[in-house]
Amino acid sequence: MLSQPAESPSARGVIDALRRLVGESHVLVDPAERAGHEIDWTGRFQGRALAVVRPADAGEVRAVLRLCNEAGIGVVPQGGNTGLVGGGVPRDGEVVLSLLRLRDIGPIDPVAAEVTAGAGVTLGDVQRHAAAAGWAFGVDLASRSAATVGGMIATNAGGLNVLRHGPMAAQVLGVELALADGGHIERIAAPHKDTAGYDLAALVTGSEGTLAVVTRARLRLVPRMTARAVAVIGLPDTAAAVSLVGRLQARLPSLVAAELFFEPGVELVVRHAAGRRPFEAIAGAYLLVECADLASPLDDLAAALSDEPSIVDIAVATGASDRLGLWHLREAHPEAIAREGVPHKLDIAVPTGRLADFVAMVGPAVAAVVPAARVHVYGHVADGNLHVNVLGPGPLDDAVDDAVLRLAIELGGTISAEHGIGVAKVAWLSLVRGADDTAAMAAIKRALDPRGILNPGVLFPVG
Ligand code: MLT
Ligand code: ZN
Repeated sequence: MLSQPAESPSARGVIDALRRLVGESHVLVDPAERAGHEIDWTGRFQGRALAVVRPADAGEVRAVLRLCNEAGIGVVPQGGNTGLVGGGVPRDGEVVLSLLRLRDIGPIDPVAAEVTAGAGVTLGDVQRHAAAAGWAFGVDLASRSAATVGGMIATNAGGLNVLRHGPMAAQVLGVELALADGGHIERIAAPHKDTAGYDLAALVTGSEGTLAVVTRARLRLVPRMTARAVAVIGLPDTAAAVSLVGRLQARLPSLVAAELFFEPGVELVVRHAAGRRPFEAIAGAYLLVECADLASPLDDLAAALSDEPSIVDIAVATGASDRLGLWHLREAHPEAIAREGVPHKLDIAVPTGRLADFVAMVGPAVAAVVPAARVHVYGHVADGNLHVNVLGPGPLDDAVDDAVLRLAIELGGTISAEHGIGVAKVAWLSLVRGADDTAAMAAIKRALDPRGILNPGVLFPVG
């Protein structure tokens, strides 16, 4: 077994050694202090850590990894613990490596349009830092106050603006890595174009902490848009929303977001999260679109929507607080659903042409295995990425997971579009990645982490 039970003498020796490396106050062994690091945001995934270790810098991260590698102790890297698939919380006796103290953020480089940030810097801090210098960051997520640079790279986070700027992979220009054996790779200071050998930054982006630990990253910045318009558009159904998004993408270069949600989710946001309905009419589907530009994009947005016959109703906002009010209807979905219970969260994607089919089929597919389950769907429509939240089944009952993931594959899609595989979807990985593909990934894992200490149980089964 990889991890040591907390009470064994060798485990006590490891804890003492960790204390010598990072200082006593940064090795949390008390159950109450560990608790917040041992359960994920959903409450579905929970385990026990040998200790939570909080290194101060990259050197201490490497020292902790070297020690754990020699002792054969599993290490679970953790940022803001906003993950949703159990990839950032311990399973049984691993060391949780919290990167939250790696908070240095460098000056904005206005010539290269980039900034270097520590793994523990939050997305919100990157956004504020960039904005203060007249720039913006290309990725935005509702969990911006807690999600960290390291965690977002580890999961290749997507979020709300992928249709305009791409996911995290499109923003990462360089990385500093701590390797499983305590080794060090630094690809921070480099030109944007650098084709000398394998692109290791791309390799670790989306690797969910299984190949190396990101300690610092150099991030691309994008121009800061100063004028915005948001609309929530009521439409008869998903098919109407998908085809409207296609037309808006063609007509509106300023389009930065297109989010889909439905009446049951709106009801929950109104009930649990102080949401306010955008208009009286009840629509079959709601599409939130945002345009951002240097001058007001409102006229362009209005013109693009003016000849759309299928619109049931529409609410438009340009002022900051009204825009936030409309965004809240979508962004508060996870929080409102969590108030109803512990959801199974499945972040599938299908080709956009199959989105309407998926939405029509997912309810019956879930009902066929758990008739009493409740299904809430919302997501990033231009990316074909829907979040299927299922309430009802217990945390370990994965029959609905199986039904939803198989449906996504059947429609030509994938089992994970932005949250990752974590521990939640390990059993289904080989359904989307064939035997040679899975074997190649396992070989890369073995090459970089021969003792299998990095996030054991994530992406691949333990053992
Ligand atoms: C979102 O799009 O709201 C996030 O991916 C989180 C979630 O799905 O719960
Ligand atoms: Zn999402």
